[in-house]
Amino acid sequence: MSTNRRNFIRRIAIGSGVLATGLPSFAKVIGASDEHMERSVDFEKSGQRFNMCGYAAPKIETVRIGIIGLGMRGSDAVERLSYIDGVEIVALCDKYPDRVAASQKTLEKMGRPKAIAYSGEEGWKALCESSDIDLVYTPTPWHLHTPVAVYAMKNGKHAAVEVPAGKTIDELWELVETSEKTKKHCMMLENCCYDFFELLTLNMARQGMFGELVHAEGAYIHDLSKDWNFNKKAYADMWRLKENIGHNGNLYPTHGLGPIAQCLNINRGDKFDHLVSMSTNDFSMNNIAKELAAKDDFFKEFVDRPYRGNMNTTLIRTNRGKTVMVQHDVSTLRPYSRIHLVSGTKGAAQKWPGPQRIAFGHSWLKPEELKQLEEKYALPIVKHIGAIAKEVGGHGGMDFIMDWRLIDCLRNGLPLDQDVYDAASWSCLMPLSERSVAKKSRTVDIPDFTRGAWQTNKPVDLTLNGGATTGVRSIKPDLKMQ
Ligand SMILES: NC(=O)c1ccc[n+]([C@@H]2O[C@H](COP(=O)([O-])OP(=O)(O)OC[C@H]3O[C@@H](n4cnc5c(N)ncnc54)[C@H](O)[C@@H]3O)[C@@H](O)[C@H]2O)c1
Repeated sequence: MSTNRRNFIRRIAIGSGVLATGLPSFAKVIGASDEHMERSVDFEKSGQRFNMCGYAAPKIETVRIGIIGLGMRGSDAVERLSYIDGVEIVALCDKYPDRVAASQKTLEKMGRPKAIAYSGEEGWKALCESSDIDLVYTPTPWHLHTPVAVYAMKNGKHAAVEVPAGKTIDELWELVETSEKTKKHCMMLENCCYDFFELLTLNMARQGMFGELVHAEGAYIHDLSKDWNFNKKAYADMWRLKENIGHNGNLYPTHGLGPIAQCLNINRGDKFDHLVSMSTNDFSMNNIAKELAAKDDFFKEFVDRPYRGNMNTTLIRTNRGKTVMVQHDVSTLRPYSRIHLVSGTKGAAQKWPGPQRIAFGHSWLKPEELKQLEEKYALPIVKHIGAIAKEVGGHGGMDFIMDWRLIDCLRNGLPLDQDVYDAASWSCLMPLSERSVAKKSRTVDIPDFTRGAWQTNKPVDLTLNGGATTGVRSIKPDLKMQ
């Protein structure tokens, strides 16, 4: 073949992504390649080693915590966890020592002893190896979530990781396999499952108030562009902006998905079966990069990079024939929304756009009717800790409810509300949506991380039975637990 003809064919092949599909030709599938998908089938076939759903680990009287990643999220976690009795924050780690020092100051302010300090790129390994830690809590950039959680579990610690739990199908199976082998919990810290309206709708769905749930929607729509992703002072080393380059799908599915997955009893009676996903082009991020680079050379490396499409929409069908829509957009100007819609044969609830609403017919209920439902269907956890959580804060209190519940379960030897299968099946939308987008929205099967156990696993326990023994340091003396 002549060199000219070979070059012509190569040019056509390289450009074919654009010509044939309109998709940018960078659209490679990183976390769910054919090899990942083949290995996933093998993992499923190999069968479950041990069922971590409903697993009660031995009680831990005082939960000794090591926290890795002390940026915006981690430094807040240090303060929140310091309010909880039966907790000792014994180790702190960040790549940058000054961040560890700042969190030591928080401990001091909270009347807590100084923690052992770890720093540097690999300081987290020494923390995980330390013998006096029960729980490794990890609010780091995404690429470290799975490596840290796996290493922590292998070193005998329970793992709590920020969202998403992993970035590739291989990583998510590694979490499942390690949790099953070590019998250590691996909880993804999906705080939105503990927001007040989400807990209300979970209880109402469980009580059959919406009839049979048919369809649900969730999202992460939050303009992070100028103030966050393109802000030199926000995410460490610009890690989150870099995640938006070279990946094209839903990068952050779990805030919208977690709460509705719980309403639908996913992994506990139903399961995500397959998805299709579609992304727009990028109409803003490269423009921002150009604008900033014109004034500041720092941003030059971010110009003309393969940014993900602004809006990604993914549709999932469950084994029991329900549908779920999940959206992701962090780069256009519109008000924040996680949607949180559940819709059934007898009613529906929707949180965003506000106000939060419930309907059992053609019209939304009046505010006073909604208030009555809020009182009637408030879950025990909300009655017990809700008022205190609002005082401590963290996204309006949901972060503190989550932390308190995690610690209370560990202290009382109760199963966690979110297990490793939830972490994997909610996070897998990240790589799988990318795979579908790259293949002109073709159908992609969603792995069964429970390897069949979803058919008999029990729904999440909504009582506080066997627990609620963990106190909170006084916020306002008149605020009492119920
Ligand atoms: N659940 C929520 O509502 C919520 C909200 C914000 C962020 N998050 C999640 O929390 C995590 C952290 O986000 P953030 O906003 O705090 O980002 P951040 O950049 O402010 O913090 C990340 C921290 O990790 C540190 N780090 C990086 N590499 C490290 C290493 N090798 N060893 C130890 N530390 C290292 C950084 O120095 C930084 O301090 C992310 O996973 C994010 O998705 C969750």
